[in-house]
Amino acid sequence: MESPFRDDIVKGKVALITGGASGIGFEISTQLGKHGASIAIMGRRKQVIESAVSSLRSLGIPAVGFQGDVRKQEDAKRVVESTFEQFGRIDILVNGAAGNFLVSPEDLSPNGFRTVLDIDSVGTFTMCHEALKYLKKRGPGRSNSSGGGIILNISATLHYTAAWYQIHLCAAKAAVDAITRNLALEWGTDYDIRVNGIAPGPIGNTPGMSKLAPEEVNGNKAKDYIPLYKEGESWDVAMAALYLASDAGKYINGTSVVLDGGIWLSRPRH
Ligand code: HXC
Repeated sequence: MESPFRDDIVKGKVALITGGASGIGFEISTQLGKHGASIAIMGRRKQVIESAVSSLRSLGIPAVGFQGDVRKQEDAKRVVESTFEQFGRIDILVNGAAGNFLVSPEDLSPNGFRTVLDIDSVGTFTMCHEALKYLKKRGPGRSNSSGGGIILNISATLHYTAAWYQIHLCAAKAAVDAITRNLALEWGTDYDIRVNGIAPGPIGNTPGMSKLAPEEVNGNKAKDYIPLYKEGESWDVAMAALYLASDAGKYINGTSVVLDGGIWLSRPRH
């Protein structure tokens, strides 16, 4: 679908996207790139990164990819530094890397629980922590710029209530939302950095959906409760990212944009 935004709304910006080589993250990389940003992707899988980078380049988007695991602080530091070395600045950090699987609390080992928190929550904080000096208003490469950088944390809606077989994900995303609000408070005040979340509901054709909501597990029942009667698209999430990352979102800080067609409000009709 064609973007409703002008194609230069993030022109000259540099965006680093974790988990940016596949699924929702890749669409965010693509749309930020199509709207003028240079793109650095961080991910764990070399081949997936290489193919994402070549797709972006084929669209004329300046793009680089770095292999790394957000659970490792040294990887986070190296990737952030390499992004700065490559493009001379970092304006937008998107924390999209996430781990997940369906499992009941009874069958989930504490290490499995910890693994998802390590990726989603600690990984998000680690990336923010390592990127801070580049996102600061007076950080390297930003001396002539007005305003600090932007952080976007990809969250979820499942933890607003509770979700079957998702105790680890719900705990992890609740922490991500807390990170969003606390950094928005402190770094917004100190450094003019805006920190926001995006909370996608069911987004079609993503690894998350095919893994977590396979048709054979819940049929198509979810659709009965979605007011807009369809799944979202990665494109929808990317448009929200563009809005928040551009000056259109300049007064938005510390919030999470829910993109779920209203499903979290839904109740069966009676
Ligand atoms: C139960 C599991 C498990 C599973 C791993 N574990 N998979 N437990 N069921 N299916 C447990 C292991 O037993 C182990 O604990 C611990 O987790 C670490 O497992 P490893 O395989 O050693 O970890 P690692 O190789 O680092 O992989 C971590 C991973 C990750 C979380 C499994 O590879 C992963 O999920 N990748 C997929 C990424 C993905 O799908 N992303 C999209 C997320 S979608 P023990 O105790 O045995 O040592 C999303 C959207 C949510 O987040 C909202 C949707 C609507």
